[in-house]
Amino acid sequence: MIGLPFSRQSFAYEALIQAHCAELADLHAPAFHHAWSEEDFAGMLSQGNIFGFIARPVGKPKQAAGFVLARLVAGEAEILTIAVSSAFQRRGIGRDLMEAVLRHLHHERAESLFLEVDESNVAAQALYRRLGFIQVGQRPAYYETGHGRSNALVLRRQFPEAMSVS
Ligand SMILES: CC(C)(COP(=O)(O)OP(=O)(O)OC[C@H]1O[C@@H](n2cnc3c(N)ncnc32)[C@H](O)[C@@H]1OP(=O)(O)O)[C@@H](O)C(=O)NCCC(=O)NCCS
Repeated sequence: MIGLPFSRQSFAYEALIQAHCAELADLHAPAFHHAWSEEDFAGMLSQGNIFGFIARPVGKPKQAAGFVLARLVAGEAEILTIAVSSAFQRRGIGRDLMEAVLRHLHHERAESLFLEVDESNVAAQALYRRLGFIQVGQRPAYYETGHGRSNALVLRRQFPEAMSVS
């Protein structure tokens, strides 16, 4: 049989639970200067207002490709972190993870979703802007990068639907 030179892999998305914490730490560490530990994730996921999703290649239930973590308080939500393993980037996982968060927040009738992004992080900014985020602020010298400090942009995505819900 002649195989195709490549095949499109699909991914499954699960809601985060405590049992995922070791995988989350493994995904987070290579993506950020300051790594969050398994215990950090366990502490966050024990809070009722923190939620998220993990992506896996279909048929590979032990392999994690990416995740997102968010918090919702009184109608206002924020992305705490998002990371896709470098081997799986640019295949739509980041967008799918963010859309899973947006669907959850829509269901919860949230009013807005905020996030902070390094002004030099072109990939993440492109992803967020395509999802309707706009810049609403800036935090100077917010991130320690290993080569000095860099500014954070504060982005917001509003849910106009929430306003019409009585
Ligand atoms: C940012 C990140 C989560 C994106 O995940 P991803 O799965 O690769 O993103 P997607 O494949 O869903 O990309 C969706 C869109 O985002 C934009 N995008 C993603 N990566 C990009 C890149 N390297 N350069 C330019 N645009 C990019 C594109 O518009 C892309 O759509 P397209 O592929 O149709 O052009 C991933 O790069 C990552 O984990 N980076 C390290 C951690 C990080 O920076 N997290 C964000 C902190 S705020």
